[in-house]
Amino acid sequence: MTVVHLIHGYLGVGKTTFAKQLEADTGAVRLSADEWYLRLYTDGGPAEALDDPLAARLNGQLEELWTTLVRRGVEVILDFGLWRRADRDRARDLAAAVGAAVRLYRLHCTEAVARERVRRRNADPGESWYLSDAAFDHLKAKYEPLGADETATDIDTTDTAPTPPPAAAPPARYPKGRRRPLTTLDISDPELDARFAAGYDGQNQWRVDDEFFLALAKLEAGRVVDVGCGTGRLTIMLANAGLDVTGVDPNPAFLNIAYAKPGTDRVAWIRGTAADLPDQAFDTALMTSHVAQVFLTNADWADVLSDLKRCLRPGGLLAFDTRDPADKAWERWASDHGYVGEERVVLPDGLVRDTTTTFVSYTDGVAMFETSAVLSDGTAHHRPEDQDLSPGTLWSRARWAYRFRRPELVKRSLEHAGFQVENMFGGWQQEPLGHGVGEIVVLARA
Ligand SMILES: C[S@@+](CC[C@H](N)C(=O)[O-])C[C@H]1O[C@@H](n2cnc3c(N)ncnc32)[C@H](O)[C@@H]1O
Repeated sequence: MTVVHLIHGYLGVGKTTFAKQLEADTGAVRLSADEWYLRLYTDGGPAEALDDPLAARLNGQLEELWTTLVRRGVEVILDFGLWRRADRDRARDLAAAVGAAVRLYRLHCTEAVARERVRRRNADPGESWYLSDAAFDHLKAKYEPLGADETATDIDTTDTAPTPPPAAAPPARYPKGRRRPLTTLDISDPELDARFAAGYDGQNQWRVDDEFFLALAKLEAGRVVDVGCGTGRLTIMLANAGLDVTGVDPNPAFLNIAYAKPGTDRVAWIRGTAADLPDQAFDTALMTSHVAQVFLTNADWADVLSDLKRCLRPGGLLAFDTRDPADKAWERWASDHGYVGEERVVLPDGLVRDTTTTFVSYTDGVAMFETSAVLSDGTAHHRPEDQDLSPGTLWSRARWAYRFRRPELVKRSLEHAGFQVENMFGGWQQEPLGHGVGEIVVLARA
């Protein structure tokens, strides 16, 4: 009887390694939904960027394929995770319908080992999603362990994990010419992040957008909150203009820069997100420099809008900018082999950071980028792909993404959160939508 091998297990338990071994042992055809999704639609990225409707269509195709194979007597290995009971039941029913036997494997290991595997994979994602620690936790809600009635071969992969290298003592300054493992430039790496943040203001000078938001806040007067305030570029200018200002941002590296700026005492700083803001405490909420685009999923976006509505007094103003997908900025980024930019920044402590940013993909509203950075004394002009780094250098690579939303979606989501949209401009000089600088500049009332 033809066998359908079902692989079940949470993140990092070694499903794909096991499935590949099984493939080699049995000659069965291995199908991995993630592998297909990533090859067809994107070259990796945060797991949060997975588009459910697209994944559902792909799963439908895979289902058609594997049942056809089985009908023709070919064994298959379904490396689908099969987290939901309903998905396992469906696979079992379909297998029965095509006259196949089912062998279910439950893969598991300790959480520490699973997390370590995921971190290693993040460092060199290949054909898998980038999974942050937060995503690892968050996705547990979608995982349904096997029921007592689900007979399975139990496979504990804990011991097959490579032993992690002993934690190295933090380098006195920088490791000598050692290529650091891939890492992300995010708040989990305070040292690198501080150095990344240190160059931020130099690259982001005062611009027409800051001018627009400053003028707007002055016109509204009252209490202002700058959500995703970063290094406080705009926040401190708002305070200098005599406004009662709060700046909120989750990134301590950015906030540390803000704390050190002249005028910092005039701002109430909060390390956190809009969820941490008190109720009806503000007359104006600003979210500038495309902070709106860091919220990749519709659910995260709905949450932030709901928090913004809650923290504003009734009738208070929300203003933000987000790039208009009609402008197709990613097509410009994608031309020239995805090259977006390269820069050399001399940091305040004299170290030099060489950065290259490339555009990776655009799928269903999510543009993915990769930024590689080399920190060195600057005597050599390193390119991030250099293999031989001179002594005293640090190297890192990060993938990050921006979500694009069409004006209708922006408007609908605002209305859903209880806002009334007052204006949508095509740029910060109040150009009409679609005739400005590829922006959607939004003014809405709580
Ligand atoms: C492009 S920077 C903009 C900073 C600042 N508004 C400016 O104009 O310079 C994006 C900021 O969004 C912040 N951010 C990321 N996730 C956030 C969240 N969930 N809530 C609030 N801010 C967030 C980042 O830490 C970063 O400071």
